[in-house]
Amino acid sequence: MKSLSFRNRIALNYIITTALLIGLVFVTIYVVVEFNVSGHLNEDLQREVDRHSNEIEIKDEKIALKRHKEWMEREHNTVGVDPVFIEFLDLEGNLIDKSPNLKESHLLYDSAQPDNVFYNGELAEKRIRQVQVPILDKNGKRVGHLLVAVAREGSEVVLETLRHILLITYPIILIILFFVARFIAGRSIKPINEIINTSNKITRDNLTERIPLPHNKDELYILSDTINNLLDRIEKAIEREKSFTSYASHEFRTPLAVLKGTLEVLIRKPRQQEEYEEKVKYCVKEIDRLNHLVDELLILTRYENQKRSLKLENISIKQVIEETLKFFSENIEQKNIHINTEISSENITLKTDIYLFSTIINNILSNAIKYSHQGGDIEIKVNEKDKSVFCEIKDSGIGIPQKDREKVFDKFYRSTDHSNIKGFGLGLPIVKRFCSLLNIRVEIFSKESVGTTIRLQIPQS
Ligand SMILES: Nc1ncnc2c1ncn2[C@@H]1O[C@H](COP(=O)(O)OP(=O)(O)OP(=O)(O)O)[C@@H](O)[C@H]1O
Ligand SMILES: [Mg+2]
Repeated sequence: MKSLSFRNRIALNYIITTALLIGLVFVTIYVVVEFNVSGHLNEDLQREVDRHSNEIEIKDEKIALKRHKEWMEREHNTVGVDPVFIEFLDLEGNLIDKSPNLKESHLLYDSAQPDNVFYNGELAEKRIRQVQVPILDKNGKRVGHLLVAVAREGSEVVLETLRHILLITYPIILIILFFVARFIAGRSIKPINEIINTSNKITRDNLTERIPLPHNKDELYILSDTINNLLDRIEKAIEREKSFTSYASHEFRTPLAVLKGTLEVLIRKPRQQEEYEEKVKYCVKEIDRLNHLVDELLILTRYENQKRSLKLENISIKQVIEETLKFFSENIEQKNIHINTEISSENITLKTDIYLFSTIINNILSNAIKYSHQGGDIEIKVNEKDKSVFCEIKDSGIGIPQKDREKVFDKFYRSTDHSNIKGFGLGLPIVKRFCSLLNIRVEIFSKESVGTTIRLQIPQS
């Protein structure tokens, strides 16, 4: 059974059920016909019993027929396909009279059989249906037996023919039904073969193949559609992975080429001390940038695929903001940026992962500072509302052009309008990923040349 193909298994299961059902129907048909045939024979016998009971005369406990001659003539004429046999016996079982069609044979009186009950017996090797009726005198005293029988040959032929027909047609019907069921099952699971064929064609480099959708919107349609959607997602993920790798290598190659060029120029001939210092400082800055890129790439790959277990603890949002501002204090001073912090309550706490949350605030503030003009303003507002903490970081910097607003959360996406400001386009993708891990809703409002506001809605539970 285990090695049977799917369609054979469906056909077999179907045929077992059908076999039981058809078997039941056939048996019922046979039993009903047999019951009817016996019923008819019983009716015939009963009619004969009634007729003959009226023609019996009892004188001095002796049984005689009222019109014996007429009766003999009539009984002669009843010889037909299913003749009726009559026999009168006295109490000792001695023959008094019998219908001429019995010729030399005798109907047997069976004392074991109850009176007036129809039963099957034999007469000269022929099958008959018989009944024994007591003959009673005026006082109700038993004086003899009337035996009536009718040949069953005709009805037996009918039953036998029916039995043959049913026994022959039964396996034929089942065999035909098995092949029909197999054919239909084969047709209905055709999409599964297509799924297998298409899946065999799909490789890492050929993800464009899709399973043709069946016409009927059934379970196989849903299965094919689900697999196609899965393939879409896998294809996109692989595309993203490919472009991520190519972007990342590009981002590494450029600063490495610059570093190599600077150092090569530096050693070509002896230079002034100041020139050495300036070039080395430049190289250190580039190396810092590369370090930053490595950090961001590591964070993204580490948190990209699996959901890492979060270390939730109670943290003070005020403290996180103050520490981040301290971290950027040098850049803030250099750009002479004015920071205004408004926190509605001193002790707003959040139950969250401190590392992820600090990284989010760090990246948003880093952008606010980086894209602010010299002497710009940054406003930080924190307040609680409806079991959520809202944190808004608003700068008055260069703003994000409308065309870029949707894309700034994509990896390596940077607005083309500020090539002088360095970055890798990985800060906001990290913010987006961490926000989704912490269930934080992040919104961005920005107007070119006016400024940008990033709003976080942090659930408190
Ligand atoms: N506060 C902001 N003001 C103006 N533009 C912004 C601001 N924040 C983000 N952007 C735009 O969104 C882009 C993506 O920001 P993201 O932080 O992801 O990258 P980045 O700052 O360029 O580099 P990285 O953060 O990886 O060092 C930026 O290049 C910039 O064009
Ligand atoms: Mg950034």
